[in-house]
Amino acid sequence: MSVFYASSLDIPRLVSEGRITVAVYGLGKMGQPLAVIFASAGAKVVGVDVDERVVSMINEGRTELLAEPGVREGIERFVKEGRLWATTDLVKAVQLADFIVVIVPVVVDEESKDPDLNALLTVSEAIARGLKKGSVVIIESTVPPGTTNGFVRSIIEKGSNLKAGRDFGLVYSPERTYVGRVIEDVTKRYPKIVGGINEQSTEVAGAFYAIFCERGVIKMSSVEAAETTKVFEGIYRDANIALANELARLCERFDVDYFEVKKAANSQPFCHLHDPGVGVGGHCIPVYPHFVIKIAEEMRVKVEVTKTARKVNEEAPLHVINLVEKGLGKIGKEIKGTKVVILGLSYRGGVKESRFSPTFDLVKELEKREVLVTVNDVLWDADEGRMFPFRFEPDIMKAVDGADCIIIATDHAQYKELDLEKLVNQAGKKPLVIVDGRQVFESKRVSEFKDVIYMAVGKPND
Ligand SMILES: NC(=O)c1ccc[n+]([C@@H]2O[C@H](COP(=O)([O-])OP(=O)(O)OC[C@H]3O[C@@H](n4cnc5c(N)ncnc54)[C@H](O)[C@@H]3O)[C@@H](O)[C@H]2O)c1
Repeated sequence: MSVFYASSLDIPRLVSEGRITVAVYGLGKMGQPLAVIFASAGAKVVGVDVDERVVSMINEGRTELLAEPGVREGIERFVKEGRLWATTDLVKAVQLADFIVVIVPVVVDEESKDPDLNALLTVSEAIARGLKKGSVVIIESTVPPGTTNGFVRSIIEKGSNLKAGRDFGLVYSPERTYVGRVIEDVTKRYPKIVGGINEQSTEVAGAFYAIFCERGVIKMSSVEAAETTKVFEGIYRDANIALANELARLCERFDVDYFEVKKAANSQPFCHLHDPGVGVGGHCIPVYPHFVIKIAEEMRVKVEVTKTARKVNEEAPLHVINLVEKGLGKIGKEIKGTKVVILGLSYRGGVKESRFSPTFDLVKELEKREVLVTVNDVLWDADEGRMFPFRFEPDIMKAVDGADCIIIATDHAQYKELDLEKLVNQAGKKPLVIVDGRQVFESKRVSEFKDVIYMAVGKPND
């Protein structure tokens, strides 16, 4: 089926009749829900991944994404019905596909902060080798603006001898979701942004996404405008979290509760103060500002707010360490030689993702101060924990045994439910210093416990 030449009015029918095959490159936290969404609408879906374990699991109708609503049931059902299967053969999948959707990771090098386009390079080369005339290639990974029409297009055109916009469609359409509710976000919550390299590309992809997205499609005037929109959404979050971290520190010195101020200030529509924390993690928000910073520097455009926000958020773990030192100081203890337990590795509650987690920085800073550090996270088991470059204990109570101080770095529901008295008794050191970086013990009136020195980001701490 040459979808690129089909009328956009025909696309919904072709999909529902099962005459369209979609290849999804990257079967991760985003790719698997997308595969389920496409199959739900009637398309045949071939998932593609370099990880053989993921591919085998999918072909057995199974997934590791058990906390992602709709994914386990969807994969089980569509594999059984023969509408979904997976492969590690990157070229074969393109040969079969009408729409080729790419959602592989694009991150930055941790040292140089240069965008790492390696996964996109591998996929683009495979697409070039298998692409047939009349297909439509859609990049969904977040990328530096200009990547689709530059990097991706040139690799595909060179390797396929086909011309984008004439022989095949080329589109950028960002994934605007939150882990834990991907299917709901895509199908119900937000409009889909679609920008093609020409009108025909935008029209066909727009008609395709309109089938699944109840909130409709926003057709952009260019592929670059679509790419920039997604990067700006991330920069907006980063800058606002940086502002929250800065203002929270100020509140601590003012002896004012940041969260009380935030609630009051946000009661009118022009203020959207965010939550402060221990830093920004995950492979999205801390990464996307660098996509713009690099390009801006090359173009000699100043992006001071974007750069400063990154710096403020990268320094957030240091502020948490200051609170630890201050808390221990209140009971006459030096930080050196103490036992500190960090509760939380994930960058966000309920999400199993350690990439760029501020917990790594917390550990590094504590070890510099000769602290004995243990990390707990309820989402990783002991076997997985052996991979981390620090002492990891999956059992909360075992982890806090003998602790002088507990840092709460992630707002997991399991931490909110902790019995404080049990925690203090288990630690055994009285008073126990608790540094709450995520408002986890907010409702527990911890400061009323006589055996606890409670320090919290954004709270009066004296
Ligand atoms: N996770 C999020 O919250 C989120 C939100 C919006 C957008 N995104 C975008 O989606 C991208 C992917 O995110 P994710 O959370 O699904 O990542 P993930 O790490 O969960 O999954 C990525 C998958 O891609 C596979 N992969 C890597 N290289 C490949 C290649 N060359 N060919 C085929 N498969 C390959 C990996 O094996 C893995 O299974 C991100 O880099 C970002 O650009 C993510």
